[in-house]
Amino acid sequence: MVSANKHTWISPLGFVVSVLFLNVALCDEPSKLQRKLTATLNPGCREFCENNTAITLVHIAATSDTDTIHYVWDFTGKPTILVALTSKQAEFHIDWPRLMESKPGSVRFTEAPQYTFMAIINRIFQYNDADDRAMLDEGTNAFVYDPHNFIWNRSLLWSNEEGVMMAINAGDDFLFKLNAYSTKDHGLDFPHLLHTSNSTQIDIVFNNITNRFANPRFAIELLFVVSEQAVVGSEFEVTKRKTLDDEHTPGIFEIVDVLSPGAFTFSAGGYIEYRPVSYTHPERDVATSTETRQSQPITVRSPSAVLQTTLAYALYGNKLDSYLVQGMNVSFGVSEDGFYRKTNYTTMTFQVGYGMPPVEELSAFVLIVAGIGIGVPLVVLIASSIYVCTKKLRNRDRFQQQRL
Ligand SMILES: *[C@@H]1O[C@H](CO)[C@@H](O)[C@H](O)[C@H]1NC(C)=O
Ligand SMILES: *[C@@H]1O[C@H](CO)[C@@H](O)[C@H](O)[C@H]1NC(C)=O
Ligand SMILES: *[C@@H]1O[C@H](CO)[C@@H](O)[C@H](O)[C@H]1NC(C)=O
Ligand SMILES: *[C@@H]1O[C@H](CO)[C@@H](O)[C@H](O)[C@H]1NC(C)=O
Ligand SMILES: *[C@@H]1O[C@H](CO)[C@@H](O)[C@H](O)[C@H]1NC(C)=O
Ligand SMILES: *[C@@H]1O[C@H](CO)[C@@H](O)[C@H](O)[C@H]1NC(C)=O
Repeated sequence: MVSANKHTWISPLGFVVSVLFLNVALCDEPSKLQRKLTATLNPGCREFCENNTAITLVHIAATSDTDTIHYVWDFTGKPTILVALTSKQAEFHIDWPRLMESKPGSVRFTEAPQYTFMAIINRIFQYNDADDRAMLDEGTNAFVYDPHNFIWNRSLLWSNEEGVMMAINAGDDFLFKLNAYSTKDHGLDFPHLLHTSNSTQIDIVFNNITNRFANPRFAIELLFVVSEQAVVGSEFEVTKRKTLDDEHTPGIFEIVDVLSPGAFTFSAGGYIEYRPVSYTHPERDVATSTETRQSQPITVRSPSAVLQTTLAYALYGNKLDSYLVQGMNVSFGVSEDGFYRKTNYTTMTFQVGYGMPPVEELSAFVLIVAGIGIGVPLVVLIASSIYVCTKKLRNRDRFQQQRL
């Protein structure tokens, strides 16, 4: 965190609140293991998966005392992240030959999950931002990448009880890094998102991709599938939270939460969360960052047709048509940042989780800085008022003595 202090800024509200919480943070207990992780690569696949870095489906059981959250990172179809809450007994099974043909029912849990949430990378756009608005509008000249056609190469998979990490690439163009965690903490790399054992993180780099337009920008279409019934008026909600300081993500005071109806009404649903920042250089820093923008989530019509080549269809088949399925686009860049071509590099980092996104707390470092920031002026203020008062009193005494 040494590098953070040269950038850290605290909002005025942060100053006031921080003093109130000063004591709380100084006796912060170290984060303890919340869930125990067990990761399996291509579970149950023996023949054609062995020594094949092109087939990747990772199942992670994150087990607590009372239940299990299953994370599935699937790159056999369109990249899909599944988060499922089940009892501790439930197992995840795959019929591999049928999954390869995207047959419904080819993946299943041995008992119906209490809740499932899936985030799917449906399409990636490179578009021509002729007017430098940094928005992907309907009708914009765009090249569409279908990630179902990507040839994936898994370059790293590492796991133990406390963490799981995978790196997987489509050529040298799209570089993915995924993480699952057992405790509440901040991610290692910028934007240092706060995670819990209820969430998994996806980091994507759009690396040195051939420009197809004069003013190219990238956007990504994310689709969300929740095991909540699609009823009129039920929609994902995009909320923007302000943080009190930017210690973890310099220059960025905002967190974007996209919450399922279950998440924002009962705190029991799926969410994705990110900071509206994209880095334009492998050395991530405030100086090499630009912004992101998202569209309003819209409902996907006939999801069972749209999602044929995804884990969602493999799990739910035509049942998808009764579930809430929505999507949104996230575009990278902001007006006057020089477009993608300026560095030919841009990133996106987001989390997918169950429950409610964790709330940032002020760290001891920020509180001490804020404490000094308020403390010193306060001491000066008190000292000077005492000085003025005593001087006044003395003057009055002298005045009274003179009258005597
Ligand atoms: C996979 O690789 C291991 C070690 O490199 C080798 O022993 C094994 O025979 C390989 N399996 C297949 C099916 O090629
Ligand atoms: C994403 O943008 C494309 C192109 O403008 C549009 O056709 C599509 O409907 C958008 N997707 C969502 C989910 O809004
Ligand atoms: C996959 O990635 C590894 C490590 O980055 C590389 O050595 C290998 O050549 C790649 N394989 C393919 C098929 O691109
Ligand atoms: C980017 O790609 C071009 C070819 O498209 C290649 O010549 C160049 O070396 C690459 N740059 C980096 C930094 O990888
Ligand atoms: C980005 O790539 C394009 C070709 O796709 C190239 O013309 C341009 O010079 C590259 N920009 C940088 C900063 O390397
Ligand atoms: C994490 O998941 C559990 C279910 O196992 C849930 O009870 C809890 O509220 C979730 N935590 C948060 C912060 O949402």
